[in-house]
Amino acid sequence: IIDVGKKLIMPGIIDVHTHMREPGVTYKEDFATGSRACAKAGVTTFYDMPNTIPTTTTLGNLMEKKKLASEKSIVNFGLHFGGSKNDNIEEIKKVLKNREVNTVKIFMNVSTGEMLIEDDEILAKVFENSKLVLVHAENEMIDKAIELNKNYGSGLYVCHIPSAEEMKKVIDAKKNSKVNTKEHPVYAEVTPHHLFLNTEIRESTERNKMLLRMKPELREKSDNEFLWEAINRGEVDTIGTDHAPHLIGEKLEKITFGMPGVETSLALMINAYNEGKISLEMIQKLMCENPARIMKIEKRGKLQEGYFADIIVVDLKKEWTVGVDDTIESKCGWTPYENWKLKGKNTMTIVNGKIVYENRKINENVKSGKEVKFYD
Ligand code: DOR
Ligand code: ZN
Ligand code: ZN
Ligand code: ZN
Repeated sequence: IIDVGKKLIMPGIIDVHTHMREPGVTYKEDFATGSRACAKAGVTTFYDMPNTIPTTTTLGNLMEKKKLASEKSIVNFGLHFGGSKNDNIEEIKKVLKNREVNTVKIFMNVSTGEMLIEDDEILAKVFENSKLVLVHAENEMIDKAIELNKNYGSGLYVCHIPSAEEMKKVIDAKKNSKVNTKEHPVYAEVTPHHLFLNTEIRESTERNKMLLRMKPELREKSDNEFLWEAINRGEVDTIGTDHAPHLIGEKLEKITFGMPGVETSLALMINAYNEGKISLEMIQKLMCENPARIMKIEKRGKLQEGYFADIIVVDLKKEWTVGVDDTIESKCGWTPYENWKLKGKNTMTIVNGKIVYENRKINENVKSGKEVKFYD
């Protein structure tokens, strides 16, 4: 029996988009520290991106990463396979056929890692041989991804849409019944940083000029506003954080793309609810229900057999200061929202029926994380 008083009980947050840096880049983050950050903030499942070292572009590398995550993660996890510029179509076929993953991530623009695919033939083949393809695509590359999905694909998930202009492209595609079909749907992801941060905030201090850098880059305040409107019109499918930790020294020394996100995403959204910007129902849709449906963790509202409860308890009224009233669990040790005063905070995290976080403490005795299963 758990007495949660007047707090809100919610399904755990599913973050479709994180970079947990293991293997190969574990001085920035690893599955233990990254999953602790998740547990603290109410993320009960994260999906990890393939731009690690080595990249998750072979069956062997994927199995190695699964082993590491299973051993270390205290929350549930899924892995995205990666498309390689060196053509790994045979590996993609293998991992999908073996049902080791159900998604492939590709980079269509330059970003952190060496995964940019520029060869049109490889791009077409990736779409042809995958189920859901997650893309890092900016500007014209969004048009191209939509075309590829329509001609060859079975599903497109556009990551981190940063601006009104790019969001409009995706909205048009979603509304076009010839482009967005049951056979090849189009999904839209927005990150918290493209909702809450902009160039004005970035340019306000020398420190922010270095820290608030990521791909896609922050845009104008008017872009923040457009994205909020799109959310409230129901045109956005998910909030994914693009949790991409780098050490503060690396960020201040030279421009390095990526910022941490899992520790602040839910609190920022609950704060936005308290400011009247979004409903709780919409938060649950964007951060829990839609991710579960799109990643096929559940089918027609039913979970895979063998699942236990992933539940969080949120104090909607709790006022706190980020980085002051809490400790940062991510190995990178910083957050772009430091000193932000927020109203709303996760207070308890239950993963697979076990309490992994309570009373501002991670339960060190519980290591409940498992790889998520998916339907076809
Ligand atoms: O800013 C970014 N950082 N964008 C990406 O696409 C990759 C990420 C990273 O891995 O650091
Ligand atoms: Zn990206
Ligand atoms: Zn078609
Ligand atoms: Zn990313």
